[in-house]
Amino acid sequence: MTDRPNFFVTYPIPEPGMGSLRAAGLVHVPEEQPSAEELRDACASGDFDVVVAQLSDRFDADLLGAAKLAGISNYAVGYDNIDVPAATGHGILVGNTPGVLTDATADLAMLLILATARRAIEADQFTRSGQFTGWKPELLLGQDVSGATLGLAGFGRIARATAQRAVAFGMEVTFCSHPPAGRTVTDAELADLPYPVRQVGWAELVERSDFLSVHIPLAPSTRHLIGARALAAMKPTAILVNTARGPIVDENALVDTLRNGHLAGAGLDVYEHEPLLAPGLADLPNVVLLPHLGSATTKVRARMAELCAGNAVAIAHGQVPPHCVNPEAVTK
Ligand code: DGY
Repeated sequence: MTDRPNFFVTYPIPEPGMGSLRAAGLVHVPEEQPSAEELRDACASGDFDVVVAQLSDRFDADLLGAAKLAGISNYAVGYDNIDVPAATGHGILVGNTPGVLTDATADLAMLLILATARRAIEADQFTRSGQFTGWKPELLLGQDVSGATLGLAGFGRIARATAQRAVAFGMEVTFCSHPPAGRTVTDAELADLPYPVRQVGWAELVERSDFLSVHIPLAPSTRHLIGARALAAMKPTAILVNTARGPIVDENALVDTLRNGHLAGAGLDVYEHEPLLAPGLADLPNVVLLPHLGSATTKVRARMAELCAGNAVAIAHGQVPPHCVNPEAVTK
């Protein structure tokens, strides 16, 4: 480790992130975000102490085995782009940006619930294209949110913030904290929540929800958790919302289910093969498709940059970063 640490920043992060990194060390930003091979070479070169990474940079076991790094600071709360057990095994610390994007992402989940329920995008296109010729009793009718049951897959920070918003909209909120496993939140914890929610099993959540909103991390146990079987078990009037990770939903199965009218709609911010969409998805009128904007507010992205740079600088100084997903890596 030199006095002036070297940071490899795969894509510039907003201020104050870049300024903090430059104040702490030497910053290398490639002209374009590196390919998988370029990333591997940079990590293995021994020229850098820490990589400041984006979700689209993949760190697999092979790359991590070759890497000569003290750590990776991910510009995201999620870290499914990094094989964390492999990083830990090689003594590579991994930092992330929790907490600061909770409200923004919950707002976006609520936006997708409302936009799909009330057909906001279809209606906007209808109006822009000059088809609005006057108020009509049955023009573009949608679904009520108030009184509807919202099922939350997951009950972490973002799910809880979504629950709070949904309750204010008059929704009945149910959740399954670690699908597909059973109940894990204690009655005492539930009683302490400042809003009413009901804990149910995964099957009930899927079958009874009018809106099913996904708030779990991507892991081998959650990949395609919402596949053909779960989609078939949902109410045909239900709407699926995903602001978590695309591969949790089998996107081809979702397109089939929506096409066949076995599901009323979907609001998606994330995709199975991001940035690609499953064939046919964009042709469906009953979907709202956003380009992974959960945390996309100026204030939140700046806070994420602050946390991300703080993690990178701490790792470069030989410390466990303030937001670390594998502090046990230091003992390796
Ligand atoms: C995250 O942080 O994991 C989001 O998906 C992007 O902000």
